[in-house]
Amino acid sequence: MEKWIALKDLENYPKPDSKEIRSAMDFAVSQVKRNLPEFTDRFPAANSENNFYVPGPNTDWTTGFWTGEIWLSYENAETEEEKEIFRKAGEIQVQSFLERIRNRENVDHHDMGFLYSLSCVAAYKLTGMEDARTAALLAADNLISRFQPVGGFIQAWGEMGEKENYRFIIDCLLNLPLLYWAAEETGEEKYREVAEKHIHTALANVIREDDSTWHTFFMNPETGEPDHGATCQGYRDGSAWARGQAWGVYGTAIGYRYTRREEYIGYFKRVTRYFLEHLPQDLCPYWDLTFGDGDEEARDSSSAVIAVCGMLEMSKYMEKADSAYYTDAARKILRQMIVKYAVKDPKDSNGQLLMGTYSKKSPYNTCQEAGVDECVIWGDYFYMEALHRLLVPDWKMYW
Ligand code: GLY
Repeated sequence: MEKWIALKDLENYPKPDSKEIRSAMDFAVSQVKRNLPEFTDRFPAANSENNFYVPGPNTDWTTGFWTGEIWLSYENAETEEEKEIFRKAGEIQVQSFLERIRNRENVDHHDMGFLYSLSCVAAYKLTGMEDARTAALLAADNLISRFQPVGGFIQAWGEMGEKENYRFIIDCLLNLPLLYWAAEETGEEKYREVAEKHIHTALANVIREDDSTWHTFFMNPETGEPDHGATCQGYRDGSAWARGQAWGVYGTAIGYRYTRREEYIGYFKRVTRYFLEHLPQDLCPYWDLTFGDGDEEARDSSSAVIAVCGMLEMSKYMEKADSAYYTDAARKILRQMIVKYAVKDPKDSNGQLLMGTYSKKSPYNTCQEAGVDECVIWGDYFYMEALHRLLVPDWKMYW
């Protein structure tokens, strides 16, 4: 048995029809609605336990994904009454995000975009809520405070300047839209300048010769020169962590959307080809792309839906043939998610997408194991975003 599909075989997979997409979204919205009593003042944890999320405080890097699900539900609500229910819940959560950034609760890291684009920028774009704008701008200020001029990058984790933390990670490409939004909103170029410097450093270094990607990359704190790549959540240094590669797919697409730099289309094609070439038969990647069919390893369904969103975003800017190719690939992967991985019955799970993997420990990586073969809250969010993108092709994205 081959570990991965041959790219040409992608042609043979079915695409979802509009009824399938609509009914998948309707179910997803009903899941969100059912969850509101438990998850309005509290937030789902990063991953489920036996497929059920438990509520917790707004402290992790992942809480914005849930609020993003609420805003997508607001956009898909069937009646004005239902819309109002989602709006109220979303606004309560925005207040929690405002408090969090004002009180600086667990914000000494770079994940401001994941947290504030989907909660507060979304709220501001959809409802004009002023507190949401205030919170998102404070988060953008916090994000640019992590910029390291020596090396030209946003430091991901840890004390600023620490040698063992003098690095960026590929995930940060999704934090940058907060800065582009802040630049547009305030007219202040400082936000865009940091985003531009970071994306330049990141894309120049994280993509390897074979088009796989590094999860994290260290810069030299004295010279600012690129130093070395290293994995944290991938299987080993030199393998391709599936979600990192997916962040690369969506990150290059978003990078192009904001900068219109031609070379980013090339980066997008390279990382996406590598991702697609390492899909197993059912199109749901294993947690590291080194694994494939026949390996007794966990999947990461969240990587699939992140890459789907990236392909759908990029296809908006490509010439016809390329655009059709990536849209088709995205639809085919999403259909597999709808049919095989999406939750169908609330008795099975209070999430949306089964079989995600947050972090799997290997003998060669540095992460702590968490959420293996579980729902992960960003997988749920991107699954809904992917469905929404197909339902509303000119969607005004939250990023
Ligand atoms: N940004 C952390 C992760 O994708 O697990």
